[in-house]
This record gives sequence, C-alpha cells and structure tokens, in this order.
Amino acid sequence: MSYKPRWNKNTFIFGGAAAWALLLVGCVMADRTMVAPPTVAGATFVGSEKCSQCHDGITSKFHDASHAKMMAPGDNAKDIGCESCHGPASLHVKSGGGAGTISNPKNSPETCFQCHLDKRGEFNLPSTHPVMAGKMGCSDCHNAHTGDAVLEGSTNMDTTNSSCLKCHTSQGGPYVFEHEASREGCVVCHSPHGSVNAKMLKARNANLCIQCHFQQQTAPGVIMIGGRDHASFLSRGTCWSGGCHEAVHGSHVSSSLRF
Ligand code: HEC
Ligand code: HEC
Ligand code: HEC
Ligand code: HEC
Ligand code: HEC
Ligand code: HEC
Ligand code: HEC
Repeated sequence: MSYKPRWNKNTFIFGGAAAWALLLVGCVMADRTMVAPPTVAGATFVGSEKCSQCHDGITSKFHDASHAKMMAPGDNAKDIGCESCHGPASLHVKSGGGAGTISNPKNSPETCFQCHLDKRGEFNLPSTHPVMAGKMGCSDCHNAHTGDAVLEGSTNMDTTNSSCLKCHTSQGGPYVFEHEASREGCVVCHSPHGSVNAKMLKARNANLCIQCHFQQQTAPGVIMIGGRDHASFLSRGTCWSGGCHEAVHGSHVSSSLRF
C-alpha cells in the first residue's frame, strides 16, 4: 500500500487551533491553496522538538522564521514546522540521521511548490530566474530557517535590494545621478519570480514609469511627464529604449538618466 500523507484538506480545515483559523484566513485572503509536506515512505511525524537534539544550530533560531509561525499549539504542532519541508522524520530520528531517511530540498523548488502552488506558474513565465533550470534555488532569495522568509526583511526595501545586489552588483551604483525609484525597491519594476515581459519587467511600456511619473494632463494631444510634452517621444518606443532614459538604474553623466 502506498504511503498516505497525514496532512489532507481536513487537517487544515478542522485543525481546531486558533492559529490555524488565522492561518487559514491568511491563506484564503492570499488566494493560496495549502497542499502537503513531502512524503517519506513508512515514516510518521515526530514534531520539531525532536530535531533540537541533533540540529540545535537550526532549531534554536527557527522560532522567528516565517514558517515557524505556521506551527500551532497542541497536537497539531506535531505535523508542521521542520517536517513541513523535510517530511515525516520518525525513521530519520530512529536511525540517528541515517542516509536517505529525510527529504532535503536543496536547490529544488518542488517542496516549496507543494504549498506555494502559484509559484510554479510564475517560474514558467517567459522571463524568469533560472530556478527551474536548477541554477538557483528559492533559498538564494528566501530564508527557510530563520527570520523573515524574504531575505533581510520584506518590509525594508533597502535591504531587500541588497539581496538582489549580491548577484547584480552593477545595478546598485553608487551613481552620480541616482534614480530614486530603486530606493523603493527593485521590485517596483521587476517581478523576481517571473514575468511575461523581458527582463522580468512589471510592464512592457511607459506604464512601468507612469506608476510614479504620472501627471495630470490638461491639454488634448499633449502628454506631460516631468514637465515636458512627451507625446512624440512615446511614439518612438519605451521610456528606456530609443536613447531617452537608458540608464534607468542610475547614471554617472546624465541627470535625466540618458546614459
Ligand atoms: C538523533 C539525531 C538526529 C535527530 C533527532 C534528527 N536528525 Fe537530522 N540528521 C542527523 C544526522 C547525523 C544527519 C547527517 C549529518 C548532517 O548533515 O548533519 C542529519 C541530516 C539531516 C538533514 C540533511 C539530510 C540530507 O540528506 O542532506 C535534514 C534535512 C535533517 N537532518 C532534518 C531533520 C529534522 C527535520 C529533524 C527533526 C524532525 C531531524 N533531522 C532530527 C541527526 C539527527
Ligand atoms: C520552508 C521550508 C523549510 C523548513 C520549515 C525547514 N527547512 Fe530545513 N531546509 C530547507 C531547505 C530548502 C534546505 C536546503 C537549502 C539550505 O540548506 O538552506 C534545508 C536544509 C536543512 C538541513 C541540511 C542543512 C545542511 O547544511 O546540509 C537540515 C539539517 C535542516 N534543513 C533542518 C531543519 C530543521 C531542524 C528545521 C526546523 C527547525 C527545518 N529544517 C525547517 C527548508 C526548510
Ligand atoms: C507545508 C506548506 C509550506 C511549504 C512546504 C513551504 N511553505 Fe512557504 N509558506 C507557507 C505558509 C502557510 C506561509 C504563510 C502564509 C502565506 O503567506 O502564504 C508561507 C510563507 C512563505 C513566504 C512569505 C513570508 C512572508 O514574510 O511573507 C515565503 C517567501 C515562503 N513561504 C517561501 C517558501 C519557500 C522558499 C519554501 C521551500 C523551501 C516554502 N515556502 C515551503 C507554507 C509553506
Ligand atoms: C531572485 C530572488 C527570488 C527567488 C529566486 C525567489 N523569490 Fe520569492 N520573493 C522574492 C522577493 C523579492 C519577494 C518579495 C516580493 C515583493 O515584495 O513584491 C518574494 C516573495 C515571495 C513570497 C511571498 C509573496 C508572494 O509572492 O506570494 C513567496 C510565497 C515566495 N516569494 C516564494 C518563492 C518560492 C517558492 C520560490 C522558489 C520557487 C521563490 N520565491 C524564489 C524573491 C525571490
Ligand atoms: C543568487 C544570485 C541572484 C540573486 C540573489 C538575484 N538574481 Fe537576478 N539573476 C540571476 C541570474 C543567474 C540571472 C539570469 C542571467 C541570465 O540568464 O543570463 C538573473 C537575471 C535577472 C534579470 C533579467 C536579466 C535578463 O537579462 O533577462 C533581472 C531583471 C534580475 N535578475 C533581477 C533581480 C532582482 C530584482 C533580484 C532581487 C529580488 C535578483 N535578480 C536577485 C541571479 C540572481
Ligand atoms: C524604475 C524601474 C526599475 C527599477 C527600480 C529597477 N530596474 Fe532593473 N531594469 C529596468 C528596466 C526598464 C530594464 C531593462 C533595460 C533594458 O532593456 O535596456 C532593467 C534591467 C535590469 C537587468 C538586466 C540588465 C541587462 O543589462 O539586461 C537587471 C539585472 C536589473 N534590471 C536589476 C535590477 C536591480 C538589482 C534593481 C534594484 C537595485 C533594479 N533592477 C531596479 C527598470 C528598473
Ligand atoms: C517607484 C517610483 C518610480 C518609478 C517606477 C520610476 N521612477 Fe523615475 N524617478 C522617481 C523619483 C522619486 C525621481 C526623482 C524625483 C523626480 O525627479 O521626479 C525620479 C527621477 C527620474 C528621472 C530624472 C528626472 C530629472 O530630470 O531629474 C528620470 C529621467 C526618470 N525618473 C525616468 C524614469 C523611467 C524611464 C522610469 C521607468 C523605467 C521611471 N523613472 C520609473 C521615481 C520613480
């Protein structure tokens, strides 16, 4: 008989604990479907407490991790926490960490997709980070074991940027003429999981820039942006192509981010 995961839809719906109610609301609001942790043939869940015997370095910091907040008090706590990503660990614990007794997602996104279903779609869009190709993992940008899952804190865009700048040093400046847009985060213009537009851009045309550089229009046939009529410029291409504002990330020579 094949191993049946102990988590099913009912576990989530009838979990009982208040925390689950909250989590469920969160999930519904975020329009995500919860599925199941990985499976390990023949093993059952033992709870995160057990892991601290041998992996204290990880368990001692786990309490403030985004995914630790999924843990509910009481009996339910057994099934979630560490084992939500690593699968049921009874055989692993019994064998003192024997090879092949636990799931290690490493760079593979499959474990994450089990709960974050929408992300599989995003990483299959035409422009994306090479996660499906195995050249990068979700954990290059996300912490599984400690702190905010969005590296260095999702609420502070300056530090979210620094996680991008680890790999994309040239977009970080410092520039003589900085584009203040980047202070709000690389993600105001880029969708790091993927996009239908080239370079993972959130919009393929002037709309990308108009989200901040919008100006009330007063005369017909005139498109005022930054105090100048852009009607004829906009017919030439995007704001950043065609020799206008090619230095979107910042410039050393041009205050209008021309090059
Ligand atoms: C009795 C000690 C012991 C306990 C308890 C224990 N582990 Fe391990 N674990 C080990 C050893 C030993 C290894 C292999 C060496 C290493 O990577 O540290 C290991 C390795 C791992 C790995 C990496 C496996 C791989 O193939 O790369 C994961 C993931 C893991 N443990 C998760 C857990 C989780 C989750 C728990 C709690 C449910 C747990 N362990 C409980 C001893 C233990
Ligand atoms: C959100 C999913 C997730 C949760 C929850 C999680 N892990 Fe992991 N774990 C990963 C991923 C992904 C990796 C592989 C990449 C890495 O090492 O960061 C990993 C790797 C490991 C390893 C191997 C580390 C190594 O250096 O080889 C151990 C041991 C481990 N986890 C233990 C734990 C323990 C103990 C807990 C609970 C306190 C836990 N994990 C909770 C996703 C998770
Ligand atoms: C067992 C289900 C499950 C698995 C497996 C899982 N997650 Fe999550 N994850 C959740 C839940 C539940 C939340 C919190 C509610 C939400 O925002 O969806 C969450 C939240 C997150 C967040 C947002 C945190 C924040 O501060 O907003 C990130 C990022 C994330 N997970 C990444 C990952 C990555 C990367 C993996 C794989 C290593 C993974 N998750 C595996 C269930 C899971
Ligand atoms: C290149 C960096 C990068 C990679 C790789 C990456 N993410 Fe993210 N992710 C981010 C950033 C940045 C945010 C915050 C987005 C924002 O604030 O708009 C985020 C947000 C999230 C969130 C919470 C908000 C949401 O969109 O639901 C989840 C869940 C998540 N990522 C899961 C994943 C999973 C699963 C993978 C791997 C399949 C992954 N991410 C790979 C950078 C990345
Ligand atoms: C671990 C390294 C790493 C991190 C962190 C990272 N990236 Fe990337 N990024 C890459 C790689 C690798 C590529 C693919 C390059 C290629 O295909 O030539 C890429 C491609 C891109 C591209 C598209 C380039 C193109 O030519 O299509 C953009 C835009 C981008 N990343 C933005 C970001 C943003 C925004 C963040 C932070 C949320 C981020 N990256 C974090 C490694 C990283
Ligand atoms: C104001 C919008 C905006 C912001 C903010 C922004 N980018 Fe970009 N980025 C763009 C545009 C537009 C392009 C496409 C340029 C092109 O095709 O010539 C681009 C291209 C890229 C590329 C591909 C480079 C190449 O030569 O093909 C990378 C990598 C990148 N951005 C990373 C980042 C990082 C990292 C940040 C945050 C520090 C960031 N971007 C912030 C608009 C932005
Ligand atoms: C997140 C908001 C935001 C986005 C998106 C954004 N900008 Fe900006 N941009 C600013 C801010 C703030 C300034 C500095 C104040 C100002 O001059 O309006 C600025 C300044 C500029 C300047 C310099 C104006 C001058 O002469 O001093 C140019 C050119 C520019 N942006 C072009 C673009 C282009 C092209 C895009 C789209 C790829 C874009 N911006 C997207 C916020 C943004």
